[in-house]
Amino acid sequence: MPEQLTLDSIRVDFPAAPQHVPKDRIVDLNFAMGNVPNDLIDPYEPFEWLAGPEIPRLLYNIPNQSGLGAVTGSSAGNWVVTHYEDIDRVYTDNAHFSNKGAAEFQRLIGETFRSIPLGVDPPEHSKYRMFLVPYFSPARISRDLEPRIREVVVEMIESFAQKGEVDVAWDFGRVYPVRIFMGLMGFPPAMFEQFLDWEWDIRHSGSLEKMQAALRGVLEFLRRFMAEKEKNPDEFLTSSIVNGHIQGQKLTEEEKIGIVWFLWLGGLDTVAATISQMFRRMALQPEIQRQLRFHPELTNGAVEEFLRTQPILSSSRSAVKDFEWHGVQIKAGEGFSCLNPAGNFDSARFAEPRVFDPARTGNRHFTFVGGVHACLGAHLARRELRVLLDEWFARIPEFRVKPGADTAVFPGLLSIRNLPLVWEPAG
Ligand code: HEM
Repeated sequence: MPEQLTLDSIRVDFPAAPQHVPKDRIVDLNFAMGNVPNDLIDPYEPFEWLAGPEIPRLLYNIPNQSGLGAVTGSSAGNWVVTHYEDIDRVYTDNAHFSNKGAAEFQRLIGETFRSIPLGVDPPEHSKYRMFLVPYFSPARISRDLEPRIREVVVEMIESFAQKGEVDVAWDFGRVYPVRIFMGLMGFPPAMFEQFLDWEWDIRHSGSLEKMQAALRGVLEFLRRFMAEKEKNPDEFLTSSIVNGHIQGQKLTEEEKIGIVWFLWLGGLDTVAATISQMFRRMALQPEIQRQLRFHPELTNGAVEEFLRTQPILSSSRSAVKDFEWHGVQIKAGEGFSCLNPAGNFDSARFAEPRVFDPARTGNRHFTFVGGVHACLGAHLARRELRVLLDEWFARIPEFRVKPGADTAVFPGLLSIRNLPLVWEPAG
C-alpha cells in the first residue's frame, strides 16, 4: 500500500491502456484487491478514502497480478468503481453490465460448462435462480439446517471452552461452516481436508499447474459423486440438483456440473474468512464483545455490521455495449471491478461509515452484492454467524489475542490463517 494515499501516489503510466482511457484515471489499485496484508484493527479502513470526493467516479486499474489474472497473463486493465451509487448501478443495470463467464476457472483445463448461476445473465439466469432459491430460503434453513448448525457449533465450542484457548481461524472458522456446507450438499465428511486443499490451490496458489491439478481432482470427484446420487438419490442438495427439473425438463450434464461446481466454489471458505475477521475485530476491540454479550438483541444488527465492515469479495462485470458514463467512453467488452469495501464505507450512503454500529438501520451493504446475482447463500451465512455469536457468548468469557500472535490480515478472502485466542476458563 502506498505510504500516503493520494491520487498522485496511485497514478501510473500504462502505455498499453486503450486510447479512449483518460491518462489521469489510470492507477495501480492492486493493493486494494485483498492481496496485501495489514495490521489495522479495521483492515478495510484504507478503502474509505476510495469512496471519497477526491476520487474520480471512474478509475482504470492496470492488470491484476494475482488470482486468475496472474495465471492467464491477462494484459488488459479494467475500470474500477468505488462509490456506492456507481457500484449499485453496475450490479443492477443488466442492459449495460454482464456477468457472463464469471468464475470459469474450469476453462484452464479446457472444460466448457458455465458456472451456474453466477456466470449466466438475465433473463436466462432466473430459471436457475428459481430452481435453487427454495433450498436456501430462511424457512428452509430454520427447518432443515438450523438444528444442525446449532449442534455443530455447540459441540465445537464445548470442545475447547475449558482449555481457555483456541486457534479460531484454523481450528474453528475454517472447519465449522464447511461442515455445515458439506452436510447440506451430502458430501462425505472424509473429503474435508482434500476439498480445502483443492479450493486453496484454485483460488490462492497463483500456480497454473496447481490450479489445473486441483480442478481436475475436484471435477472428477464431483462428477463421480453426482453419478452415484443419480443412481441412489438421498435427501441432500446434490441429489436434488442431479435429479431435479427446470421448467419440466431434466437438467443437462453441463447444467448439473455447472451448478454443483459453483456451489462447491462459493460455499467453502467465504463464511470461514468472515468468522476469522469477526473474531479478530472483537479480540482487538473488546468493547464490541461487551456490547454484544450484554445486549443479545443486537446480534442480528452486529452480524450485518461485521458483514458491512468486512466485505471479503469485490465483484467484476463487463460492459455489454459502447456507452458514455461520467463523461468517459466505455467500450463493449471492457471489464469493471466494483470495490465493495469502498462502497460499504461511502459516507454519501452510510452515516459515520467507520463506526461499528449494531443498531444501524437500512444497512444495505454490498458484501453479498446486489441485483440478480445477490449471494444465494446469504441467509445461510447470516444464520451461521448469528447462531455462532449466541452460543459463543453463552460459553466463552471475554477473550483476547494470545500474546505474541501475528494479527496481520489480508482484507479479503485470503483473510488470516491462524488466530490464537485466549480467555480465563470458567471455574
Ligand atoms: C459470508 C459469506 C459469503 C459471502 C461474503 C458471499 C459473497 C458472495 C458474493 C459477493 C456473490 C456475488 C458475486 C458476483 O456477483 O460477482 C455471491 C454469489 C453467490 N453465492 Fe455467496 N457468499 C457467502 C456465502 C455463500 C454460501 C455459504 C453459499 C452456498 C452455500 C454461497 C453461494 C453463492 C451463490 C450460488 C452465488 C451466485 C448467485 C447468483 O449468481 O445468482 N455464498 N456470494
